[in-house]
Amino acid sequence: MNPLKHVAIIMDGNGRWGIKYKNSRNAGHKAGLNTVEKIIKESIEQKIQYLTLYAFSTENWRRPKEEIKFLFNLLENFLINKINDLHKQNIKLKIIGGKKFSKKLNNLLNKAEKKTCTNNKLQINLALNYGSKTEILNAVKKLIKNKETINEKNLNKNMQTKNIPDPDILIRTGNTKRLSNFLLWQIAYSEIFFEKKLWPAFNKNDFRKIIKKYKKIKRNFGSI
Ligand code: IPE
Ligand code: IPE
Ligand code: MG
Repeated sequence: MNPLKHVAIIMDGNGRWGIKYKNSRNAGHKAGLNTVEKIIKESIEQKIQYLTLYAFSTENWRRPKEEIKFLFNLLENFLINKINDLHKQNIKLKIIGGKKFSKKLNNLLNKAEKKTCTNNKLQINLALNYGSKTEILNAVKKLIKNKETINEKNLNKNMQTKNIPDPDILIRTGNTKRLSNFLLWQIAYSEIFFEKKLWPAFNKNDFRKIIKKYKKIKRNFGSI
């Protein structure tokens, strides 16, 4: 049975779910947040140590302003209403990506990170304004600037995921088989699961099924 430390998720399909059932993409984003809560709960149940959630990509700025505004509002309210809850559950929140948001959201994110920084049950890495290519480029630039040797170990040290083991599992919901600029370096040996269900429809049983399958996979890492 494979050990499981880190699950990364591309939470895709909110917009389509919203249009289909509520005639509004934003309603899908709202419903998607419920799935996030369910999956956090199940991650604790499964004793997973790291959960990395792709919430907003560097390319998602191309969306209509109203949708972006709605998404960040949703996140603000989530932080205001739920951070104490997360803290009580001994959850650590870490943001990966660029923190270039409104003053209010930046403050909330910083506060949430600070409040939860010594928690050690589950670490949630929330990927916000995250792009893997930018992350890799920044890491390489730092190495060059500091005149450090460019090797795998040093690059890892300069990634936003430093000190976090690579994902064992990558899940993408929403019936699309692509990576959309997510953790390209870190998923070199992750087991990838493409899930047909849209993110708001994804549930703990779907999650459990994936974990069960993962545990039985023969992971080679190049060996036999
Ligand atoms: C993913 O759902 C959530 C974000 C990118 C914020 P989408 O909004 O991409 O949903 P679809 O893919 O359009 O259905
Ligand atoms: C990936 O979904 C990003 C997040 C889930 C945050 P997208 O919906 O942005 O991906 P593409 O554009 O369809 O590849
Ligand atoms: Mg999408």
